[in-house]
Amino acid sequence: MRILAIESTCDETACAIVDDARIVRSNVVASSSELHAVYKGVVPEIASRAHIENILPVVREAIDQAKTNFDEVDAIAIAHRPGLIGSLIVGLTAAKTLAWSLGKPLIGVDHVAAHLYSVQLSRLAAELAPPVSLPAIGLVCSGGHTAIYLVHDWHDIQLLGKTIDDAVGEAYDKVGALLNLSYPGGPVIDKLAQQGDPTAIKFPRASLGKESLNFSFSGLKTAVLYHVRGHAGREREASSLSEKGIIDVCASFQAACVDVLITKLKRALKQTNAKSIIVGGGVSANRGLRAALSKLPVKVHVPDFEYCTDNAAMIGGLAHVLLERGASTSLDLDASPASAIRATA
Ligand code: KG4
Ligand code: ZN
Repeated sequence: MRILAIESTCDETACAIVDDARIVRSNVVASSSELHAVYKGVVPEIASRAHIENILPVVREAIDQAKTNFDEVDAIAIAHRPGLIGSLIVGLTAAKTLAWSLGKPLIGVDHVAAHLYSVQLSRLAAELAPPVSLPAIGLVCSGGHTAIYLVHDWHDIQLLGKTIDDAVGEAYDKVGALLNLSYPGGPVIDKLAQQGDPTAIKFPRASLGKESLNFSFSGLKTAVLYHVRGHAGREREASSLSEKGIIDVCASFQAACVDVLITKLKRALKQTNAKSIIVGGGVSANRGLRAALSKLPVKVHVPDFEYCTDNAAMIGGLAHVLLERGASTSLDLDASPASAIRATA
């Protein structure tokens, strides 16, 4: 089965063609990140407008790169939740229009569930990883989401804990802005952290109690602010830090983030019957996190780099699984800012 998938939940307009749930024939992503850089964060209205401009060229490009055509597509998939509502509506409208005009089924996919599913994808059949053995602990860590799940099956995911304030990627981007680094801060901090001393500054790790699987990154962010700018938050400028001072902040901040994520994963393993771990979302590209994950005593699945940040291939892959399980394909599908994944199985 061949699926054309669309993703427009935040600032990436993406379209992919995915065969048989796992083989990615094309994966086209147009980001409006540069338009947001001046504001050091995503501006929803600007993102929506960029989606309108990008959606048709991106769909055409995905079809061309996959060397296919609309007749050969069996179904249309769309990430219809969670996300910025204006952004979601642009992708959903395009997907509904394609499904209706081509007479193909429309499948709605939860973006967060798709970040977990992204570990199943590959460009080449020969390079496919063995299927994930379930149940698994799933961690989604990105700019908009930081949450931990028990993945009973790809259509049956249970929320175990989530951030009570910032997402970890959001904390990376805010610390990047504070240090006057380019936007988004995550990849830049990751790179600088490789040369710094992770023990230079002892930033706080929020545990939120012995058993909790929730996260909090706002205290860490404030601690970095105080370290960089003084206790009133404006006693000095980040530019007064030496180059070594900046890379040590990056390394120490990254060490704190990684510690928290790993601690919660270990706790989740103890509290459940899961035998493996899946990590998805933009921060799963982080080298410090990947190194720490590789030391865990269970099998850890991370996506190929091209499927860590927002993409439509993960939407197309998961849509196939859902369609086979009899997912509804109604054109009444709505966009929603919230994920549908609940704490009850
Ligand atoms: O998954 P994604 O594209 O969007 C959301 O669903 O939110 O994630 C984007 C986030 C940004 O906050 C970005 O700074 C972060 O992922 N990110 C990273 C790295 N690459 C992207 N954070 C840390 N290290 C990286 N290498
Ligand atoms: Zn995402």
